[in-house]
Amino acid sequence: MSLDDLYRRVIMDHYQKPRNHGSLGEDALSVELNNPTCGDRITLQMRVENDIIEDAKFIGDGCSISLASASMMTEAVKGMRVEEALHLSELFSQMMQGEDIDVDEFPLEDIEALQGVCKFPARIKCATLAWKALERARQTNR
Ligand code: FES
Repeated sequence: MSLDDLYRRVIMDHYQKPRNHGSLGEDALSVELNNPTCGDRITLQMRVENDIIEDAKFIGDGCSISLASASMMTEAVKGMRVEEALHLSELFSQMMQGEDIDVDEFPLEDIEALQGVCKFPARIKCATLAWKALERARQTNR
């Protein structure tokens, strides 16, 4: 199997069996964002205690890339300090800009499967939607 096929499989697995899909209830920190190019929406919810992301879930409509990315992001940041999660978000953004990053820094190696998205500018907003919601949640929670 080629690396592209493997990556495609990983993305489809997260799309078809999204991790952390659902709601954390009305009292959780909640951010809704849309992808301006297509209108798809995601709502990210988190519970943050003592600067640790205790839980993260999402709901929303979107393409396979956006939902797979949300699944991976929520899986990766659970249990992390907020600053670590934001560092991860910065790293992901650099990967989407085609920069040569150290993918070993991702705590969840599935995230590497999205690196090919940087070759398709129209899909970068899909892949970064959930991560932008994470950054927005930080701003909301200051
Ligand atoms: Fe809408 Fe990807 S096409 S999020």
